[in-house]
Amino acid sequence: MSTSFRIPSSEITPEHLYLTRRDFIKSMGIAAGSMALAACGAAPSTSTASTPAPNINASAATDELGDPLTPHEVVTGYNNYYEFTTDKEDVAPMAKDFPTSPWEVAVGGLVKNPKTYMMEDLLKFEQEERIYRLRCVEAWSMVIPWVGFPISKLLNEVEPTSDAKFVRFQSIYAPEKMPGQLSGWYEWPYTEGLRLDEAMNDLAIFATGLYGKPLPPQDGAPIRVVVPWKYGFKSIKAIVKIDLVDVKPTSLWMAAASNEYGFYANVNPDVDHPRWSQATERRIGELSRRPTLKYNGYEEQVADLYVGWDDRLDTKTSS
Ligand code: MTE
Repeated sequence: MSTSFRIPSSEITPEHLYLTRRDFIKSMGIAAGSMALAACGAAPSTSTASTPAPNINASAATDELGDPLTPHEVVTGYNNYYEFTTDKEDVAPMAKDFPTSPWEVAVGGLVKNPKTYMMEDLLKFEQEERIYRLRCVEAWSMVIPWVGFPISKLLNEVEPTSDAKFVRFQSIYAPEKMPGQLSGWYEWPYTEGLRLDEAMNDLAIFATGLYGKPLPPQDGAPIRVVVPWKYGFKSIKAIVKIDLVDVKPTSLWMAAASNEYGFYANVNPDVDHPRWSQATERRIGELSRRPTLKYNGYEEQVADLYVGWDDRLDTKTSS
């Protein structure tokens, strides 16, 4: 079967209209015939080297629950990226000229093989498509077709030592190019973390593209984390540093408001944010709200990580 999803021309630039799967495979270095699908169930079919390359057709594609992809223009036009601005619709124009090449990611800490990867090296990991729901802690959500590779593949290469318990990710610090970093409200650079076994879960990926193209700056180019069962703030953008550590990392949001944002930040409709309910969400593009699913609908794949854990203990006020 070949993938046959195409972005409706009304929603895209001509550039996208003519982008073929094969072009993308070439541009991203995706291994032909290896377009594994979303780890979670049914989804658009895969393409092989011998299959004629169809155009990307977003209108026909859904997530494994049958919900349509959020249009490309929304995914790339409504963003949270505080390094630039807190105004979601201004991120794309402000980030437009942010230089994302050359790019290096230094991986170190408690590992046997520390290494600084050039972006080109990271694109040599087999790139896959993953269609995931992104649920922001602000109670809106999207369905996004990412391209990327499991975090576990990189970690297996650098080989965490037996002392490593957590992975700490850091975004770029470039206040001369990112005016939001001049704000004293937050402790820059943006930092996030995962428990090592969470990072090793197959759903946790580094995204290098979306909608069949390299990531645009506003979505975290050239490489970001995507952990779909957690609130979107865990999916840290523009990563330049990854360290394996033995102490739970303090994220930018934990440092800013530990009573509101915890380390785990698992999507959970039964655990409200102190200032609003998390029981429902607004899927961008829909009129009425929909119920929020536990672990954003990925409970089957991740529940074993949290046996004996209560998400209500995640923030300081609720413990
Ligand atoms: N990463 C960095 N470096 N800076 C940010 O402000 N915002 C987070 C997350 N990653 C953020 C970040 C939040 S709150 C969300 S909801 C998602 O990115 C949004 O990703 P998107 O803009 O690609 O939809």
